[in-house]
Amino acid sequence: MEVIGGPASYSLATKIAKKLNAKYVKANIHIFADGESKITISHKPRGKVIVVNSTYPPTDSNLIHTFSIIDKAKKSASSIVAIIPYLGYLRQDIAFLPGEVVTSKVIAESFSAVGTSQIITIDAHSEIALSYFKIPIKNVSAINKLAQYCKKLNLENPLVVAADFFWSANAKKFADILSTDSIAINKQRDPNTGKLHIISPKMTDLKGRDVIILDDMISTGMSIINATHLLKRQNCGKIYVCCSHGLLVNDAKRRIKNAGVEKIICTNTIPSTNSIVDVSDLLASAALSF
Ligand code: R5P
Repeated sequence: MEVIGGPASYSLATKIAKKLNAKYVKANIHIFADGESKITISHKPRGKVIVVNSTYPPTDSNLIHTFSIIDKAKKSASSIVAIIPYLGYLRQDIAFLPGEVVTSKVIAESFSAVGTSQIITIDAHSEIALSYFKIPIKNVSAINKLAQYCKKLNLENPLVVAADFFWSANAKKFADILSTDSIAINKQRDPNTGKLHIISPKMTDLKGRDVIILDDMISTGMSIINATHLLKRQNCGKIYVCCSHGLLVNDAKRRIKNAGVEKIICTNTIPSTNSIVDVSDLLASAALSF
């Protein structure tokens, strides 16, 4: 077995290879002046090959790199397991407005077309999007890992708050690990403007209670900032934010901090200074059981 690390995930791929006791091979990249890229894999991969590359921004470039590595490796390997720690485009799972392309379906078909045998990802955004994949796909949860990290923070009577209703079951799971309770915010997004509308859940006074806001991903940070304002109005204690995928685009990190968040905790599906929860062992054991 060997692990090929793509440019978006060199560090995580190295960790996965170590955990699997597998050979690590780096896929080299050269970017031309016009923005096109050339990927080189300096030998012929054989047997079961694991390709690791996340598809965070620049998402389209990282997708092209991933497809190129798989396409090349498939020519000599017997099978390709693609570990895509953050699988982008899954929010585009239906046509919200007439004429919209369902891009997650295009991505699913492209993975098959380049010869992927199986896919492993973490906390995929949408079950509908996953249903478009015609190859086996394993969706691993990072909730336990994130909760174990927060358990060590010695929080004051913590309340777990799902930033979106669709993550309320995960918030409950997270809260159970901390032996506490959870609530969920109901968030609606205008399909034309993208503007968020927050429906507050029933809340008792949060005085003296620290809060953990939980979401699958943070992109612009607006969902977290809105949730923070809502919770601060209830006199809560310190606010922590936990997510699987910290996209944290533009100055999201600064704006979240300015809103009054104590700490942003993300897994290392996307590399950044906030990626403090390592999920390499989850991904390695998922690859072993395929
Ligand atoms: C959306 O449904 C997701 O679960 C996240 O809540 C969302 O993508 C976060 O985006 P932003 O940080 O831009 O509010």
